Amino acid sequence: MTSTPTLTGRVAVIVGASSGIGEATARRLAAAGASVALIARRADRLEAIAADIRRAGGTALVIAADVTDSSAVREAAAAVKNKLGSAGILFNNAGIMLPAPIGEHRDDQWKTQIDLNVSALVTTVGAFVDQLVETAATGAPADLISTGSVAGEALFTNFAVYSGTKAFVKHFTTTLRAELGPKGVRVGSIAPGLVQTELANHVTDKNVTDWLAEAQETMTALTAADIAEVVTFAVSLPSHVNLQHITIMPTRQVV
Ligand SMILES: NC(=O)c1ccc[n+]([C@@H]2O[C@H](COP(=O)([O-])OP(=O)(O)OC[C@H]3O[C@@H](n4cnc5c(N)ncnc54)[C@H](OP(=O)(O)O)[C@@H]3O)[C@@H](O)[C@H]2O)c1
Repeated sequence: MTSTPTLTGRVAVIVGASSGIGEATARRLAAAGASVALIARRADRLEAIAADIRRAGGTALVIAADVTDSSAVREAAAAVKNKLGSAGILFNNAGIMLPAPIGEHRDDQWKTQIDLNVSALVTTVGAFVDQLVETAATGAPADLISTGSVAGEALFTNFAVYSGTKAFVKHFTTTLRAELGPKGVRVGSIAPGLVQTELANHVTDKNVTDWLAEAQETMTALTAADIAEVVTFAVSLPSHVNLQHITIMPTRQVV
């Protein structure tokens, strides 16, 4: 990237903004001039990030919400419209990874992943889609970017449910683009390989935690800031250019 993109006047909603990729992307989009709405459950984390953004001269709205609660998501969308104006960027990024062998019957973990990575992802699109279409109708760029994973594309043993949710993100994006592209809304997904964030902290399966720890030692993982840079690039392109699917890997990660 050769120049700093300017997103002044754009309203960006970042879901899962309290840590990791969402936090870094919120900070990066705000630094590029977007007004940002920060959505996640941990209000204290969101308030601290918003305070940093405001200190730097930016605009940040904190919305503490559990996005698996569809009424909370609809309220969040109304709050964004009332306080910042119609969203022009939705970074649909909240997610959880809980791999385990299917024979362990972790119904609780299957449900948690599907509720957040699939159902809440769709609910959030439903809550914000009218704003994105409205923004595009003014001639301004409008972007819907969802966070998938390389796990939705490659094969990782014991990741079947998580990988299934991330494969959903990819095909949902492809299909939704057919509907929203003609209305001027760019629809894309970003599928990272290993990124150093809090994602692994929730994993309970020891084989997976050992594998992730070893991977962190043997390669330089991506940083959340790396992903934020690419998302900012994608939303800063001329509005006729839609990056449909971006796979971003640590150079030394093969699968
Ligand atoms: N790290 C990686 O290696 C990697 C690789 C590929 C894809 N990804 C994907 O990247 C996305 C971001 O993950 P990350 O790596 O940045 O991990 P992270 O630091 O754990 O971030 C997850 C975010 O999702 C939010 N979240 C979780 N449950 C939520 C809920 N019910 N309602 C609202 N927000 C919720 C969390 O906030 P609260 O807990 O405050 O609610 C947090 O802000 C995920 O979709 C993940 O699957 C990550």
